[in-house]
Amino acid sequence: MARVLGPRRKASQTEGLVPNSWYNIVPDLPETLPPPLLPDGRVPPREMFERLFAKALVDQESSCERFIGIPEEVREILISLGRPTPLFRARRLEEFLGTPARIYYKFEGVLPTGSHKVNTAIAQAYYNMVEGVERLSTETGAGQWGSALSLAGALFKLKVRVFMVRSSYEQKPYRRVLMELYGAEVVPSPSKLTEAGKAILRVDPEHHGSLGIAISEAIEDVLSDDRARYSLGSVLNHVLLHQTVIGLEAIKQLEELGEELPDYVIGCVGGGSNYAGLAYPFMRFKLLGKKDDMKFIAAEPKACPSLTRGAYAYDYGDTANLTPLLKMYTVGHKYRVPPIHAGGLRYHGDAPSLCLLVNRGLIEARAYHQTEVFAAGLLFSRVEGIVPAPESAHAVKAAIDIALEAKRSGEAKVILFNLSGHGLLDLQGYLEYFEGRLKDYEPENIDLSYLPRMDS
Ligand SMILES: Cc1ncc(COP(=O)(O)O)c(C=O)c1O
Repeated sequence: MARVLGPRRKASQTEGLVPNSWYNIVPDLPETLPPPLLPDGRVPPREMFERLFAKALVDQESSCERFIGIPEEVREILISLGRPTPLFRARRLEEFLGTPARIYYKFEGVLPTGSHKVNTAIAQAYYNMVEGVERLSTETGAGQWGSALSLAGALFKLKVRVFMVRSSYEQKPYRRVLMELYGAEVVPSPSKLTEAGKAILRVDPEHHGSLGIAISEAIEDVLSDDRARYSLGSVLNHVLLHQTVIGLEAIKQLEELGEELPDYVIGCVGGGSNYAGLAYPFMRFKLLGKKDDMKFIAAEPKACPSLTRGAYAYDYGDTANLTPLLKMYTVGHKYRVPPIHAGGLRYHGDAPSLCLLVNRGLIEARAYHQTEVFAAGLLFSRVEGIVPAPESAHAVKAAIDIALEAKRSGEAKVILFNLSGHGLLDLQGYLEYFEGRLKDYEPENIDLSYLPRMDS
C-alpha cells in the first residue's frame, strides 16, 4: 500500500503556543513608515481617525511599541475558536513534486468562518464593545472578512452592516447566508444606500463593484451614524498587528518540528494582512541580521498587480476619496479590478509597511493568472486534502514554484507558506476551472496619471 502520511507531519496545538502579545514591525522597519496624509500634505488629525475607529485601535495604528499585549478576553476567544491553528508539513506535496525542499504551511482555514480574518475581527469588535460602540460597518470582497466580522459582532453583541462587492455577492451566495446567519445585514455594493454607491450606479448600473467602492460606502455609512464605527479587514497597521499571532505561533511550531528559520516565507497579498501576519515575526529576524538570506515572497493576481506593476505613491484607500492618502504600491483607486474569483485580492493598493519592505527589496512580489492558481489549488486539494481559497491558492502556486526551483538546484530549502483560508465556499471558481471557463485578465496599461503628487 502506498504510504500517505510521513512522520512528524503536524506540530502540536497547545494553548500555550498562542502569544500574549502581538508583534508590531513599525519600530523595526529599515526607515520611518511614511504617515497617512491629507491631500494638502498635512497629517490627518487624530479626531478624524477616532470618528472612524475605536480609540484603542487608533493608538495601535500609530504605536511604536514593539510588542503590544493581547487582552486576555481576546486571547481566550481566539483559543475557543481554534487557535493555535495547525502547522502542517506538506509531505505528500513534496513527494508529488519530487523536491528535496521541506514545505510547511500554516492553516488558518480551521477558524470558524474559514480564514485568518477572525484574528483581527475579534480584536476589533472587542475594543469597540469596550468603548460602547453599537454598530460596525465594513466592506467585504470575497466575503471572508465580512463573515469574520459578523461572527465577532455576534459574540460581542454589536450590530454589523457589510457592504459586499457585487461580483462576490453574486458569485458566492452562501457567504452572504453565513453573514446573515451571524445576524449581519449584507448590502451588495455599489448600493443605493450611499451617495458614493449612487454616483457609481448612475454611470454604470451594472457595475460589479470593488473593494475601493465598498470601503467608500462603509465609511459614508459610519459618518452618518454617531453610534457606528468602521472596521477594516486589512491594509492598516493595527490589522496587520492582530494577524501576527500566525507567525508567532509558527515560529514555535517549526522549532518543535526540528526546523530553525525557514529559507522562504510565502503568502498571498490582497491588502497584506495574512501575509504580514505570517511574515513579520520572521522578518524581524532578518532585520536583526539573524538570517540574512531568508527570502520573502508575496503572491498577487496579474489581474490586480499592485506590487508588481503599480507605482509606489500616495493614493486614496477608497474609490470616492474619503480616506486619507497612504503611501503604497497602487494600481490607482480608479482601477476597475476584473471580477476574478480571488475576491479578497481585488484591492488597488497594499499595506504601507509591506510596500516599504517591497520597495527596499526585502520582499519579492510575484503575480499569477487565475487559471494557474486554480491548477495549484486543485493539485493541493488532491495531495494534501485541503481545498484552498482562491486567494490562498496564490500562495500555494508560489510555494510550488519555489519547491520546483529547489528541485532543479537540488537544494533542501525550507519553505513556509500561509494557507490563509479554505475554499469550500468558493467551489464555483473550481467549477469554472474544470469547465475551462476561467478568464485570465492582465491590464495592458495602468493609468496612474491622476494620482496626487505628494512626494515631489
Ligand atoms: C482567504 C483569504 N486570504 C487572503 C485574503 C487577502 O487579504 P489580506 O491580504 O489582507 O490577507 C483574503 C481577503 O479576503 C482572504 O479571504
